[in-house]
Amino acid sequence: MSIITELTRMWLTRSTKPFIFRNEYDQQLPFSECDNLGLYVHIPFCKSICKFCPYCKSKYSKELCDRYIDVLIREIHLVGEQHKGKKTVTSLYFGGGTPALAAARLKEIIDAIQEHFIITEGVGVELHPDDVVPSVLQILRDAGVTKVSIGIQSFQKKFQDVLGRQSVNILALKKALCEVSFETVSMDFIFALPTQTFDDLKNDIDTAFQNGANHVAIYPLIDFTFTSSAITPMPKKEKKALLDAITVYCMDKGYTRSSIWTFSNEKHANYSSMTRDNFLGFGCSATTLLKEQFKINTFSVEEYCKRIDEGKLPTSLTIRFTLRQRMVYYLFWTAYSTKVNAKDFEKFFGIPLRKMYGIELKIAKLLGFVNEENNVYYMTLKGAFYYHYYENFYTLAYIDKMWGIMRKEAFPQKIEL
Ligand SMILES: C[S@@+](CC[C@H](N)C(=O)[O-])C[C@H]1O[C@@H](n2cnc3c(N)ncnc32)[C@H](O)[C@@H]1O
Ligand code: SF4
Repeated sequence: MSIITELTRMWLTRSTKPFIFRNEYDQQLPFSECDNLGLYVHIPFCKSICKFCPYCKSKYSKELCDRYIDVLIREIHLVGEQHKGKKTVTSLYFGGGTPALAAARLKEIIDAIQEHFIITEGVGVELHPDDVVPSVLQILRDAGVTKVSIGIQSFQKKFQDVLGRQSVNILALKKALCEVSFETVSMDFIFALPTQTFDDLKNDIDTAFQNGANHVAIYPLIDFTFTSSAITPMPKKEKKALLDAITVYCMDKGYTRSSIWTFSNEKHANYSSMTRDNFLGFGCSATTLLKEQFKINTFSVEEYCKRIDEGKLPTSLTIRFTLRQRMVYYLFWTAYSTKVNAKDFEKFFGIPLRKMYGIELKIAKLLGFVNEENNVYYMTLKGAFYYHYYENFYTLAYIDKMWGIMRKEAFPQKIEL
């Protein structure tokens, strides 16, 4: 593991104790008292598998997908029934994989969720460009979906070839999105591909906003060690210059930066399943973050189904936080939104942010990483760039190790990060 991530962890948690994930879990999840709770549902099936993709997914078959959804609905009831009455939550996001492969059953899943939860900020679904046809979009909208996020990756043939993706029919995409509208239409792009220039990326963003998107997400290509991707990542210096240039372009255009990677041309448009204080995850590989614990479901569809058949939760690993560890988690995820509100932190932990991280905040201000206004810390452009680099280290050091193991073992004994 990188020395940088290890030292940062020790400094921020004020402890040499690593993050320890163990093969144990609570059958009863203490989410009743959680405010600002989000929901996530994972559908792990794709028609074809992309070599660069790290997510938990397997080849789609209708039979397996139907069995999975039957079981998923039982997991939702197993957890939902633990709260008396209906629990208010912010949003519900479907990710994958390719959730729209189960479009015909999404309403059933949403209905199961709504037996236990009241959703106040809408329902989002990740789509593959192949799903963006009026018939599928209409089914999603009728089921209550309000936001969609489409995995474009690039509109350009040379990069689609590098990624092994099919070309996107832009006119058909625009027409379908005109016919069936959503509050947020986000399009995902991958940047830092070999030879990619500012103009390539700028064209992608312009094309997205001209063809039905009101929100874009620009993710740097992450070269996970366990994927079979043969794409050579862009050197760090070039990558930083590209990210700088594209961020300045979006800010000059007046787009709203709603999180580190995302920009919208309409204020109300947003798509983020990450910036929640707490969340409950359902399905294979889904994670749950609560006040004192973080847990991750098994990656194996087979073992997931077996656990639910036994009436047990499909949790593979749980970490029980020290207070400082939970604070680091809180700050890391909240920082995705590019700002941290000290009042929210104090409400969550009952301790002032300045008391716990006064020195770090002072240093961050001195280095020009954050500005403070009315007890809210706003990341500057410089701060956002460095957060991005740290996040990249973190993703490689932590997620790469954990997902690498979880893909092979349904229930590992212990993982230390
Ligand atoms: C679950 S996929 C989106 C929906 C659909 N499955 C698709 O591929 O169009 C989520 C997004 O993660 C991003 N992604 C996947 N692998 C990545 C990688 N190695 N580095 C950075 N982003 C990646 C892609 O932008 C992708 O659209
Ligand atoms: S990028 Fe999307 S379609 Fe490709 S394997 Fe990953 S989840 Fe499936």
